[in-house]
Amino acid sequence: MTTDPTSETLAELGATSPEAVREKFAVLQARFDADIARRGSDADEQPALAAEWTGRKAGALTRIAEHWLRPAPAELKRVVGQEFQKLKAHVESVLEQKRAELDARAEAASAALDRIDLSLPGVERRVGTRHLVRQTFDELIGIFLSIGFSVVEGPEIETPYYNFEALGIPEHHPARDNMDTFYIDGSRGNHLLRTHTSPMQIRTMEKQPPPVRIVVPGKVYRRDNPDATHGYMFHQIEGLAVDTDITFCDFKGTVEYFVREFLGPKARTRLRPSYFPFTEPSAEVDASCHVCGGSGCRICKFSGWIELFGAGMVNPAVYGFVNYDAEKLSGFAFGMGVDRLAMMKHGITELPLLFGNDVRFLRQFP
Ligand code: DAH
Repeated sequence: MTTDPTSETLAELGATSPEAVREKFAVLQARFDADIARRGSDADEQPALAAEWTGRKAGALTRIAEHWLRPAPAELKRVVGQEFQKLKAHVESVLEQKRAELDARAEAASAALDRIDLSLPGVERRVGTRHLVRQTFDELIGIFLSIGFSVVEGPEIETPYYNFEALGIPEHHPARDNMDTFYIDGSRGNHLLRTHTSPMQIRTMEKQPPPVRIVVPGKVYRRDNPDATHGYMFHQIEGLAVDTDITFCDFKGTVEYFVREFLGPKARTRLRPSYFPFTEPSAEVDASCHVCGGSGCRICKFSGWIELFGAGMVNPAVYGFVNYDAEKLSGFAFGMGVDRLAMMKHGITELPLLFGNDVRFLRQFP
């Protein structure tokens, strides 16, 4: 016995009375209903199911028309025809309904995907920040821009003339010792990495007549042994003001203004005698400790003062190198370590942190 009754005729199936015919159709419909119940709501199964029942060539309906309806004897033709039409209508309408259900489900699913939930939190994209050294540069330069200085920049590869000679540091001058130098073309060659930004004093005065009021930000290089506070590259800002009537008072006033802008209105300034070949007199500029206010703490090593930078009145000998009239002109200069100032202000004790590019560190200075 075959399991597919539609491949045999009704006569072969023994259905020779109208009741028997109706029963055969009822069995088929029950089979279809069971099929639909099992697979009709599955979007992957449903097309196959529909093909099995309504497929033009091999679908069950086609086979019924062929094996049950066409060969039916005249006295059963009517009832087979009616039953066939009933079954066909049932199958087609149920399939149509299932298809509609599936379409509606798919549409609802894609609508849910498309819907934008405005109450969801957004995706946070981290925005980068300026590097702390850059920030400090900008802050320091901004203070001088606000009092009429302008910014110039110069080469990092210098000649001994600009880096040393014209600044009053001839060969064998002891000041060359504490600026251990990277020479580019052999030791004591004709090119070196500048050890400070001071050469730009000379280059600027060579190029332009007085008055001069400039700051020079840039990288400088020294053959230091790297440690917590030294590296072979660091950043400086040079300052130079030259005019016909600049006095020590202007120098001191400018420095005090700078210190208050940088460290706050309560910061006090102290000038300590010092020595640089290109300034006379020379001074170290100290500020009252921004942490303890001057009473003494670990940051200022209990002295109440913090050393900020070197400065002084331009040594008249320097004017001789740039054809400035030393009789008529006077001025002051300063050179500050930007990294040092950044560390001091933010309580950073390790210079390598500034150059390590560790974002966990950098993000602390948004
Ligand atoms: N060039 C010096 C250095 O790198 C810093 C300095 C001191 C610059 C005094 C100046 C100055 O212009 O007047 O150590």
